[in-house]
Amino acid sequence: MKRILLFGAPGSGKGTQGELLREKYGYLKISTGDLIREEVRKKSEIGIKAENCINEGKLVSDEIIVKMVKNRLDENPRIPGYIMDGFPRTLSQAESLSRIKVDSEIAIFLKVNEEKLIERLTSRLYCDKCGAVYNLLTNPPKVQWVCDKCGNNLTKRSDDKREVVKKRIDIFLEETLPVIEFYKQKGSFFEIEATGTIDTIFNKIEGVLS
Ligand code: AP5
Ligand code: MG
Repeated sequence: MKRILLFGAPGSGKGTQGELLREKYGYLKISTGDLIREEVRKKSEIGIKAENCINEGKLVSDEIIVKMVKNRLDENPRIPGYIMDGFPRTLSQAESLSRIKVDSEIAIFLKVNEEKLIERLTSRLYCDKCGAVYNLLTNPPKVQWVCDKCGNNLTKRSDDKREVVKKRIDIFLEETLPVIEFYKQKGSFFEIEATGTIDTIFNKIEGVLS
């Protein structure tokens, strides 16, 4: 079993690149952001608890997140590998993950400057039915505000307002950079300058995976 960890600030392209990896290699992609948004959409007990955190750009509790990840893995016992998009984000989550054994693990950090992150997120469009991601400036849907994949109407994420984006970036620097440092020390770690086109960045990721 192979595990690929995609790290990066909000808007660095974890979801976009994770989806390309999923399509190409048939790995399971686990996006903790998508999982928690699905709970909010369903208005489940977890969703109701987590909604304010998401809207304010704060992290959801480690307990809830770790449980969701474990459930997702338990539901998919026969996969060749999995990609983590947005997990682990705290040292405590990293500790929990290290207890789930795999044959190989690779950590990839998508590095993007703050100005670009804000530009990308304030122009992002999102499908709340299938989770597809677009961008008004760089990756628009074929038909305005309509999802290419499922035909649903596209929306903006509630946490993509400029002030919330800034808060999310601050939390990334505070909580997640130490996790990235932990994986850097551990080895099998690659930092990728992730400001080129989506295809260029995917090629770089494939380069480190081969
Ligand atoms: P989550 O959904 O994971 O948000 P995030 O980490 O803030 O990251 P984003 O999804 O905003 O960005 P991304 O890196 O996926 O970029 P994308 O590919 O979309 O988490 C949301 C919330 O859930 C958290 O704030 C927290 O509350 C909670 N949560 C989730 N995980 C948690 C955890 N582990 N612990 C606790 N709480 C957790 O790309 C961005 C935009 O740029 C798109 O429009 C895209 O089209 C465009 N784009 C992508 N690549 C390029 C490129 N190369 N050039 C130009 N445009 C590009
Ligand atoms: Mg994402």
